[in-house]
Amino acid sequence: MLQRPRRNRKSEVIRQMVQETYVSAANLIFPLFIIDGENQKTEVSSMPGIFRYSVDNLLREVESCMKLGLKTFDLFPNIDEALKDTFATESYREESLYLRAIREVKKEFPEACVITDVAMDPYSSDGHDGIVDNGEILNDATLEVLGKMALAHARAGADIIAPSDMMDGRVGFIRQVLDEHGYSGVSIMSYSAKYASAFYGPFRDALNSAPKFGDKKTYQMNPANQREALIEANLDEQEGADFLMVKPALPYLDVIKLLKDNTELPIAAYNVSGEYAMIKAAIQKGWLNEQRAITEVLTSIRRAGATAILTYHAKEVLENKWL
Ligand code: PBG
Repeated sequence: MLQRPRRNRKSEVIRQMVQETYVSAANLIFPLFIIDGENQKTEVSSMPGIFRYSVDNLLREVESCMKLGLKTFDLFPNIDEALKDTFATESYREESLYLRAIREVKKEFPEACVITDVAMDPYSSDGHDGIVDNGEILNDATLEVLGKMALAHARAGADIIAPSDMMDGRVGFIRQVLDEHGYSGVSIMSYSAKYASAFYGPFRDALNSAPKFGDKKTYQMNPANQREALIEANLDEQEGADFLMVKPALPYLDVIKLLKDNTELPIAAYNVSGEYAMIKAAIQKGWLNEQRAITEVLTSIRRAGATAILTYHAKEVLENKWL
C-alpha cells in the first residue's frame, strides 16, 4: 500500500498538525434570555444550565462571559403576557425591558457585540412572528412593525440586528429604515434558512412564546427542502444582509454547506434550544461524554461551513477550557 492514511493519525502531534477545523471563542455567539424584575435568575427547565436573567443579573453574566473571551451576545426577552398585543407594540416602547437591557449592556460593556432579535413572537398575543388577520399571517403589514422594532434596537445601541421572522422582503425593508435614520453602520444577520422545526420547543418554554393557534409553516421553511434555502439566501444577500444564517444547525449541515458554497458572505448557524436539550438530557442520563459530545457538535457545524455559531454551549466550553 502506497497510501496509508493512518500514518497521519499516529500521534497526537501529527493529528493536531493536520487538523482542518477549529472552534474558538471568537466564533461563538451566546444567546441570553431576559426577564423583568430585580435579582432574578430562573432556570429554563428544558435547558439545564440556561437561565432567564433580570437586567442587573444579565450585566453580571455578560461580565463573566467577557472575562472568558466570549464577547457576542444575542438577547431574547420573556415578556409579561399582559404586555402582549396583536401589533407587538411593546417591542418598540422606549422603556420596555428589552430596550433597557440593550442600553444597559452597551453602556457597561461598549466593547461587547450585541445582537438583537427582530420578530414579533415574544410580544405578540397570538404568539406568531407576524400580524394575524383572520388566522392569516400578514406579510407586508408585519414589515412595518419589524422596521419600528429594528430602529428602536439600533437607537438602543444594537451592533447587529437579526430578523428571525421569515417574512418576505424584511431584510431590504429593515436596511432601508436603518439607512434613512442614519444607522447605515448597523449590521443585519438574517435568519435566511429558518426551518419550521420541532427543535424550538425549549426556547418557546423559555420565553413563553409558543403560537396560540396553528404552526409557523406558512413562513418558516419545510424541513424537506434544500434548494429553497438558496432562493432565501440570494434574496437576503441582494437585500443587503451582512450574514446569512441557517437554523437549526445539526439537522441542516447540508444547508450550511450549500450556502457556504454559494455566497461569499459569512454564514452563521444556530445550534438551537432543542439541540441543546437533547445533548443535556443524554448527558444527565450518563449516555454521552459531555466534553466530547459538545465539542464534536460545534466542530461539525464549523466543518460544514459556519463561520459563527449561536449556541447555548458557548460559555461552558470556554469555562471548562474544552476548545
Ligand atoms: C422567534 C425565534 C425562535 C428562535 C429564535 N427566534 C423560535 C421560533 O421561531 O418559534 C428559536 C431559538 C432556539 O430554539 O434556540 N422568532
